[in-house]
Amino acid sequence: MNADKNTNSNAESSAENKDLTGKREQTVLTHAGSKPGEYHGAVNVPVHRMSTIVFDSYDAFEKVPNVPYAYGRAGTPTSAAFEEAITAIEGAHRSVATCSGLSAIVATLLAFVEQGDHILMTDNCYGPGRKTCEQVLRRFGVEVEYYPPMIGRDITSMFRPNTKLVFMEAPGSLTFEVQDIGAITTAAKAAGIKTAIDNSWATPLNLKPLDLGIDVSVMSATKYVCGHSDAMLGVVSTNAESWNAVKRSALMLGLCGGSEELYLGARGLRTLRPRMEQHQKAGLKIATWLSTHKEVKRVLHPALPTCPGHENWKKYYKGASGTFGILLHETRRENIARMLDGMSLFSMGFSWGGFESLLFPEQPGHARSAVPWTEDGFSLRIHIGLEDPADLKADLSAGLDRLAA
Ligand SMILES: Cc1ncc(COP(=O)(O)O)c(C=O)c1O
Repeated sequence: MNADKNTNSNAESSAENKDLTGKREQTVLTHAGSKPGEYHGAVNVPVHRMSTIVFDSYDAFEKVPNVPYAYGRAGTPTSAAFEEAITAIEGAHRSVATCSGLSAIVATLLAFVEQGDHILMTDNCYGPGRKTCEQVLRRFGVEVEYYPPMIGRDITSMFRPNTKLVFMEAPGSLTFEVQDIGAITTAAKAAGIKTAIDNSWATPLNLKPLDLGIDVSVMSATKYVCGHSDAMLGVVSTNAESWNAVKRSALMLGLCGGSEELYLGARGLRTLRPRMEQHQKAGLKIATWLSTHKEVKRVLHPALPTCPGHENWKKYYKGASGTFGILLHETRRENIARMLDGMSLFSMGFSWGGFESLLFPEQPGHARSAVPWTEDGFSLRIHIGLEDPADLKADLSAGLDRLAA
């Protein structure tokens, strides 16, 4: 085909942006944010590498900030496509992308507090989020208190006149308790306190925080959304009342997603459901098998009754992901090392949510202050990837044999 002709026909493409009104979630997930009508028929909004954006005239220049794109950090068509798609599946008012999940947490914390305020943070929150509270918020005169994750509606007893935010995470990092997010939200709402939740584990496919009345949903899109262990990305979605504060916070902190990462985030959304279904299916299969293994003291998988808060998972969640914990009877470091060093498919890594299986050894006690962690053995955080579960089971089985040897 003649190249010029090809270019012309692309330029004249009449592919339309799809009307998603009234469409079901999987359809929305497949098309939200896509704008073929604006990009010569391309179904993916391209990567826009933009910092400088120039204006045709002084008139146009004077219209800033009421133009869609004025400077790369404040938004590009690529960030808009990702944010639009996330907003659609979160059922949010709007969303803002940031450069990582941690920065999405930081933007949320700083959106609602000032010197002299008090916040309640779940005791099982993501570790670096806790460090931000300790090393940033406290320095600026914000009182941080950690609440027991299973506190439920009794959280009311911790409210003070200056409490501005309750930050939840369910299931919690490393220990996987599923808190009663509905009861906590109702209590906070009645007291006029903002609520936020880290929704990285469930993703909006398995939990829609805003439908439960939570004001802000925070996600590390690095995990399941991007899904391929090759991008750092965060996103915050809010209801209408919380939007200005969160957007301003992200802007003033200088947070924005990178062009490639935003593109990968939007692309990841298209396959999120089938990936999540496989992570869930394989994860449950392996967690159920592990719960019968003699080396395993307890399996901390929200969909199994041995996980604290399993009832809350059943009440609020539509499904599970492939990330869970196990507690081992073993307490000796050298035996844990023998198990981990010999794994053939599972690798040790700090992340989860990608296509590949990961293991992460932990002793969660050191990160707790509201309720002591009393288990003495090691725990492992396990992320079940997209490999064949039979091969993963064989790898874990051999590992647990090494532990006992
Ligand atoms: C629950 C949770 N939230 C947030 C984050 C931070 O995300 P990121 O690594 O994208 O900064 C992580 C990272 O492991 C996490 O596990």
